[in-house]
Amino acid sequence: MSYMPSHGTDGTDGLHIDMRHCPSPPILKGRIEDVEFGTMFTPNMFMMRYHKGEWKEARVEPVTEIRLHPGATVLHYAQEVFEGLKAFRQTSGDIVLFRPEMNARRINESAKRLSMPSIPEPLFLEAVRRLVEVERNNVPPAPGCLYIRPTLIGVTPLVKVSPANEFLFYILTLVTGPYFKGTSGRDAGAVNVFVAQSVTRASRGGMGAVKAGANYSGTLEITAKAFKAGCAQVLFLDARDETRIEEMGGMNVCFVADGALVTPPLSGTILPGITRDSLMTIARGLGIPAREEPLDIVAIIEGLESGRVTEAMACGTAAVVTGIKSFQFEDGRVVNVPGPTPGPVSTRLFDAIRAIQYGDCPDENGWIRTICRGETATD
Ligand SMILES: Cc1ncc(COP(=O)(O)O)c(C=O)c1O
Repeated sequence: MSYMPSHGTDGTDGLHIDMRHCPSPPILKGRIEDVEFGTMFTPNMFMMRYHKGEWKEARVEPVTEIRLHPGATVLHYAQEVFEGLKAFRQTSGDIVLFRPEMNARRINESAKRLSMPSIPEPLFLEAVRRLVEVERNNVPPAPGCLYIRPTLIGVTPLVKVSPANEFLFYILTLVTGPYFKGTSGRDAGAVNVFVAQSVTRASRGGMGAVKAGANYSGTLEITAKAFKAGCAQVLFLDARDETRIEEMGGMNVCFVADGALVTPPLSGTILPGITRDSLMTIARGLGIPAREEPLDIVAIIEGLESGRVTEAMACGTAAVVTGIKSFQFEDGRVVNVPGPTPGPVSTRLFDAIRAIQYGDCPDENGWIRTICRGETATD
């Protein structure tokens, strides 16, 4: 399905997007597998400003530093929310997005929670579309993609705990390969996960269900500890009883128990992942039962040891589906996931979602949005 403007004359809720971008020839020189995730920015960005109650000055332009008053609310009170989605170059050459409306909706949920203005959904989608079109030569073929990072910040100078009334919304794009080094898709690799016992990520009534930068800064110290211990992600438990599995620092978590895909429910303390939601649908379509249910860490560990739980996987836009090979607790205990990692269900799910994203199977759920038709990268 392609985009059809739904508001205004150009799909932007009436706001004109000024195209002041520079040319964007391919910037990837080596192998996509060698690109460190989050480092290879493309030359252009989308930017607009919220002032006196409205969005204005929407433009696509070369990436530039942004000038902020040092008292801006984003710098003092972390008034910032963001999104993460990807553009894929399909086997046919088409450049597509995967369920971008979900990101448009989620950034507005996040914005509301932090008292920031919403971005009209057609405008969000059109901004992403225009930028990706400009950066189309930088969308690598599989297993690469273009990672898209929409970001909303409060910029009013205000050293007082009170919402801003001026905001910036911008979108960056990055040439991207696998999130975890050494896991280049279905055959290659699985990761170790560090189980946080001293730190939690979100509590009831907090911000766990939205994508606010502040949720992530509180995980950096334990993430550094996890890296030192040879782990690639941190698994967080619930803040009240510290017994229920929630999610990881940058992705959701699923297990295979008695042949079914199981994942914690959306309790308000975890991010409603678009990949998580998609995998549940895909699993059911493949005849794999899929359930959301509270997962007790002790029961899951016992299940891994007894063989009732056969697989564990990280799932998210960045990680796609990445097998987990062990859980390492802060107190030093290590529990290995039995069998090959990634396991057979993880691999089937990975293959299925990738096939949809890269256009290697029919898009039966109507998740793909085409940005440009059948070109191959050119200088
Ligand atoms: C904390 C957290 N949980 C889950 C996810 C997975 O969400 P999605 O599948 O929409 O990328 C992400 C990634 O954005 C995340 O940062």
